[in-house]
Amino acid sequence: MPTSHQQTSRSEPQAAGNGHGDTSWFVRDRFGLFIHWGLYALPARHEWVKHREELSDADYQRYFEHFNPDLYDPRAWARTAARAGMKYCVVTTKHHDGFCLWDSQHTDYKATRTPCGRDLIAPLVEAFREEGLRIGFYYSLIDWHHPDFPVDRFHPQRNDTAFRQAAAGRDVGRYAEYLRAQVRELLTRYGKIDLLFFDFSYPGDDGKGRADWQSEKLVEMIRGLHPDILINDRLDFPESADYRTPEQYVPNEGVKDEAGRAVVWEACHTFSGSWGYHRDEASWKSVPLLVRMLVEHTAKGGNLLLNVGPTGRGTLDQRAVERLRGLGAWMQLHNRSIYGCTAAPAEWVPPADCRYTFNPETRRLYVHCAAWPFRFLHLPALAGKIAYAQLLNDASELKFHETAAALHAALKAGAPRDALTLELPVLQPDPVLPVIELFLK
Ligand code: GLC
Repeated sequence: MPTSHQQTSRSEPQAAGNGHGDTSWFVRDRFGLFIHWGLYALPARHEWVKHREELSDADYQRYFEHFNPDLYDPRAWARTAARAGMKYCVVTTKHHDGFCLWDSQHTDYKATRTPCGRDLIAPLVEAFREEGLRIGFYYSLIDWHHPDFPVDRFHPQRNDTAFRQAAAGRDVGRYAEYLRAQVRELLTRYGKIDLLFFDFSYPGDDGKGRADWQSEKLVEMIRGLHPDILINDRLDFPESADYRTPEQYVPNEGVKDEAGRAVVWEACHTFSGSWGYHRDEASWKSVPLLVRMLVEHTAKGGNLLLNVGPTGRGTLDQRAVERLRGLGAWMQLHNRSIYGCTAAPAEWVPPADCRYTFNPETRRLYVHCAAWPFRFLHLPALAGKIAYAQLLNDASELKFHETAAALHAALKAGAPRDALTLELPVLQPDPVLPVIELFLK
């Protein structure tokens, strides 16, 4: 995948991770939808509620007994995602509470046994594929319901001495078998799966990691079934990871491996503070912030996986829908500055308040202006390099001047030598985030 242009880009040639999956679509598509859905949609106060409130299986059972998403319409979800410009989805087939959204033959703790009474994954996969999105499965390594899962520092019953004593003989090897059997099911029932997101390892004291999950064996099985599939980096088995997954964080400079080489990465973010549906959470990010985050990730050579937590009725949270609409409106006019784009060559340093994204194939450079400058924008090191310039939203030409020679003295004084100077309209062309498209010679 690395082209000669990418050799010079800030992120260097993106090492295709350490794994063997096909990252070519992933680094092109850039933008995906994360879906956290399960029993925790009912308490509606964070997907870790069982851990936080130290709920027993009996306490938590009421959500199982009342899980009935009567308005579930995965086609509507898929349409909403596609219109927002998203190109893939990653859905929680099972979260830490152990509840399975699909009809697994290895457990009764699944959607088909609740009042819902059906496999929720099959129609979702079909709906998203129909909208042209690729399919990723999130699978929780942690399982707070399985009888073979040894109690550890995150377990809801971690402080329940009697429970811990009774559970002392739990055999994590048996759990690892269950885990493999479930993943095999997920990879053999629903056609081609593009990506697996395992979550998560916490090796060391009272934790779990590679040896517990039997990560080598698991990966070997996965690669045997789907040689091209992408596997994330949370198996405590870095040799197998196709991409890195920073969480709720925008890396400063892209992500590097131990040898300092840029790697493929995707950061996942919530709209607000919770992954699962949270009724009372109020720190919802604004559309302009979300658009800037998407640009920021692309400008650093990474992907953005943005999360929705659907409700217990099976609907998308209206607050998420509004934001996805806003993202879609911006993407409709500006997605050329995202898809196929990555970090620009390091020697081109963007001016204040701007970010560059660069498409090495079309050789177009995109200038994203977080604060609209007054009339002139100087782009250092770009004199002599640009054939044509336009606003991306309406393809209207922008005049430009090279080496500041054509400008009057006052402007010349402020313009860096070797800068390309763009002449901008006074009015900001897009209310959210204006983008200038530069065609390189
Ligand atoms: C964390 C949380 C989890 C969430 C995940 C998303 O690891 O445990 O609730 O699913 O992040 O990346």
